[in-house]
Amino acid sequence: MKIQNSQQQKSLYDGGRHLANILARVAEQAVPGITTGELDSIAEELIRKAGGRPSFKNYKTEGTKMPYPASLCVSVNDEVVHGIPGKRVLLDGDIVGLDIGMEYEHIFTDTAVTVCVGKVSDEKNKLVEVTRRALEIGIGVVHDGVHIGDIGEAIQAYVEGEGFGVVRELVGHGVGDKVHEDPEIPNWGTRGTRGILSEGMVVALEPMVTMGSPKIKVSKDGWIWSTRDKKPAAHFEHTILVTKTGAEIITLS
Ligand code: MF3
Ligand code: CO
Ligand code: CO
Repeated sequence: MKIQNSQQQKSLYDGGRHLANILARVAEQAVPGITTGELDSIAEELIRKAGGRPSFKNYKTEGTKMPYPASLCVSVNDEVVHGIPGKRVLLDGDIVGLDIGMEYEHIFTDTAVTVCVGKVSDEKNKLVEVTRRALEIGIGVVHDGVHIGDIGEAIQAYVEGEGFGVVRELVGHGVGDKVHEDPEIPNWGTRGTRGILSEGMVVALEPMVTMGSPKIKVSKDGWIWSTRDKKPAAHFEHTILVTKTGAEIITLS
């Protein structure tokens, strides 16, 4: 979406701040012994308490056999994104992606983190930190008039320079009016290519980074993406607002 007035802008800021606070509270609960389904219940309750609606619940998209059944995507270890919460118990040493979306005063925001459960290996910890930094680097490139390819090139160069892989099949996206909008914002690419972002646009950047090969596959129901080599992956995401000289992070707690 493109922000049209100060009313919309306020709803965007308020919704984004609420969502970031909610995700932070959910992330604190990601400790050994909790189930992924319990994290989803906590997320849904906090969204409703904030006056929002969980935008992922019952979301339908091409290539999937059923609407998405939860409020929170929970993706453990080799699951990259869109893991479905349920009876799975988190274990010491897991890394877990938590991705959450909310509609608040008609405006959609979307944010994700990957958290370490208990004590994780040094290489998993590095994967998580590199992915967090990749998102910061991508955001740092954004300003009015930036080519979408500039963002992808910056993220890809950093991640591959650290010896990790960048997922190609899934991308960042416009957001605000819906869960997903144009334009697509890949985490790889070439400077000076693709469309341009302009002041007032609301977009979600979301690098997905793999420890091994970047090749991924999807579950039969069309939702859960995981690495083909079964090595871990990490994911961070912010909703941002493009400004004249940079970007404002909307999903900041
Ligand atoms: N949050 C995901 C994204 O970042 C989309 C989740 S759709 C769902 O684009 F249905 F899986 F929840
Ligand atoms: Co998301
Ligand atoms: Co997204």
